[in-house]
Amino acid sequence: MNKPICDNPRLLRKRDLGHNYFSYTFAPCQAAGKCRPGQFVHIKLPTEAVFFRRAFSVASVDPAKRELEIIFKIFGRGTKLLSELPKGAEMNILGPLGSKFTMPRRNHEAVLVAGGVGFPPLMYLAEQMIRKGYEPGRIRFFYGARSKDDIIERSRMKKLGVDLTIVTEDGSIGRRGLVTEPVESFLDQHGSSVRLYSCGPEPMLKAVNDLALRRSIRGQLSLEAPMPCGYGVCLGCVVPLTDGGHARVCREGPVFEIGEVAL
Ligand SMILES: Cc1cc2nc3c(=O)[nH]c(=O)nc-3n(C[C@H](O)[C@H](O)[C@H](O)COP(=O)(O)OP(=O)(O)OC[C@H]3O[C@@H](n4cnc5c(N)ncnc54)[C@H](O)[C@@H]3O)c2cc1C
Ligand code: FES
Repeated sequence: MNKPICDNPRLLRKRDLGHNYFSYTFAPCQAAGKCRPGQFVHIKLPTEAVFFRRAFSVASVDPAKRELEIIFKIFGRGTKLLSELPKGAEMNILGPLGSKFTMPRRNHEAVLVAGGVGFPPLMYLAEQMIRKGYEPGRIRFFYGARSKDDIIERSRMKKLGVDLTIVTEDGSIGRRGLVTEPVESFLDQHGSSVRLYSCGPEPMLKAVNDLALRRSIRGQLSLEAPMPCGYGVCLGCVVPLTDGGHARVCREGPVFEIGEVAL
């Protein structure tokens, strides 16, 4: 794991993606060149109104320009305050933190399953896979959410050229239902040549984990947990493992092997 850097970049670009979603790009960010898909940064808001740092997955980086992007949805007080910061605001960012996704081999079918705000780290993974020569059309990107308001960055994904399947619970865009339904059909057709990557709400991760285990398919899941310190000392983010042990989501995770965590 790369040693995290504590930095004070500015909010260079602020994009309102609509429906309470925002893309923030920070620069100059020393950590930008060290981040890998799956890793996260821990952000201290420039206000005394919230005490704890907030964790956000890295959504993209431009190491040459030392830029780092996060994408977030307003959830509670912390993210509401974050959304109100003006362009140019100075932030305190600690990162990169946590474990990263392992890139699939070229002969693997890569299946990425994103649910809601689990989308940013998987978009970053897809971008990096393409940069490393993986054929975009062979990246099967399943993106699920409640409704069309929670499906963001569609034109960006189209530009990437991945094989995108959108699924919404209310059918307002894409297929109607749960994202795990088309994933299950795909796994039944393609079997063990698949490498599965997933990030999203815990019930979805549990369903993906079960689908993969039943078919002996390997892959990785990225988890979320409350993260007071973010670097392994407070034990506030511990989860149980299937072998009876425990692991810290901020340190051994957030990326775990399928079957490793007792979900
Ligand atoms: C590894 C990781 C990656 C994430 N990536 C993203 C992402 O890419 N995009 C996104 O939108 N969200 C992401 N999240 C979730 C994001 O961190 C939460 O939305 C945010 O922490 C809570 O939102 P809030 O600050 O608005 O909630 P609040 O309502 O302000 O906080 C929720 C409650 O949790 C408490 N709390 C908040 N933060 C902490 C903490 N660090 N430790 C202990 N208690 C805390 C607060 O005190 C409050 O009681 C990620 C979380 C993790 C763990
Ligand atoms: S957040 Fe403190 S140990 Fe993980």
